[in-house]
Amino acid sequence: MFYQKILKPIFFKFNPEFIHNIFVYIGELLGKNRIARNLTRFFYGYKDRDISKTVDGLTYKTPFILSAGFDYNGRLLNILPEISFGGAEIGSITARPCEGNKKPRLKRLPKSQSLIVNKGLRNHGVEVVIKRLKKIKRTKNFVIGVSIARTNDSKNQDTKEGIADYFYSFKRLNEENVGDYYALNISCPNSFGGESFADPRILPDLLESLSAVKCDKPVYVKMPINLEWSKFRELLEVLSRFKMIKGVIIGNLNKNYEDLDFPNEAPKDYCGGLSGKPCLELSDNLIKHTRASYGRRFTIIGCGGVMSVENMKEKFRAGSDLVQLMTGMIYNGPGFMKELSKAYSKNEKS
Ligand SMILES: Cc1cc2nc3c(=O)[nH]c(=O)nc-3n(C[C@H](O)[C@H](O)[C@H](O)COP(=O)(O)O)c2cc1C
Repeated sequence: MFYQKILKPIFFKFNPEFIHNIFVYIGELLGKNRIARNLTRFFYGYKDRDISKTVDGLTYKTPFILSAGFDYNGRLLNILPEISFGGAEIGSITARPCEGNKKPRLKRLPKSQSLIVNKGLRNHGVEVVIKRLKKIKRTKNFVIGVSIARTNDSKNQDTKEGIADYFYSFKRLNEENVGDYYALNISCPNSFGGESFADPRILPDLLESLSAVKCDKPVYVKMPINLEWSKFRELLEVLSRFKMIKGVIIGNLNKNYEDLDFPNEAPKDYCGGLSGKPCLELSDNLIKHTRASYGRRFTIIGCGGVMSVENMKEKFRAGSDLVQLMTGMIYNGPGFMKELSKAYSKNEKS
């Protein structure tokens, strides 16, 4: 209530990227202080019946993961467990540091419950993030995923360079034993190289190259959602051939502005993908099809448009093993994951 009635109206008056940076700054500060962490847990921590879930050998204290793009440099890993997340996917990180696209990079669309995202993979680069993650004090049953993407710069022009870029990050993370699972972001809609690996003709080249790296952690692939089932299935067919790939995250941002409840809310001079509500239906449908066609071959992490308890239940009903979210937290506040956890617990019981 405090967030909804008082903080959110104030925050929403300011530039969203500025507010995001403030959140990361405050969250990192709170995470460093034991009393602040305890207080945060007191207000926002789920404390009822055990709802932990083990997937691919990793135990999540709640089945909710912060999706990639919020904590892109791995600064919030001490505070996120206290607001009822069972894990966080940091990144997407890239082989080289990345400034991201030109501003404006974010725009709120409150009537449509969405954000326009044009971050362009702004991050500190794999080496800096490895150093940071190595210093993190781990929280029990809080899983750290690392999302890997292709550096968004002009050095990265062709497929060969793109593969070398993913390979470098993947190899370094494995060498340093950093992260509990890895997500290959092949579907970032707003970077220099485009969505080049969300193409069944060249995806095998990337996966063959990465298969040469010794990796004993689950690897998931972050999928695009603006594909018809037949095209989406072609990508799954490729993934199913690679033992290393344990699952899919369904999925990334929606590129279709027609899916907004209020398409006129999006200014003409903005470009980027849409998060939140416009992702819900596309993601749920692809999850259902994937589960029906592939059974348990893939772990499914459902992601996109979880703005309410009902949306969360639908994601699990569709076939998700775990649920990722970000925009729902931005719109509902830090108490949202506790609310989801309580509802999930009741649902499991009944
Ligand atoms: C500000 C922002 C930045 C994002 N950056 C990334 C990213 O770097 N890598 C990635 O895989 N997805 C990224 N995403 C997509 C989200 O991880 C997620 O797939 C999408 O927002 C749908 O989930 P939601 O509706 O719960 O926000 C980003 C989303 C937002 C809102």
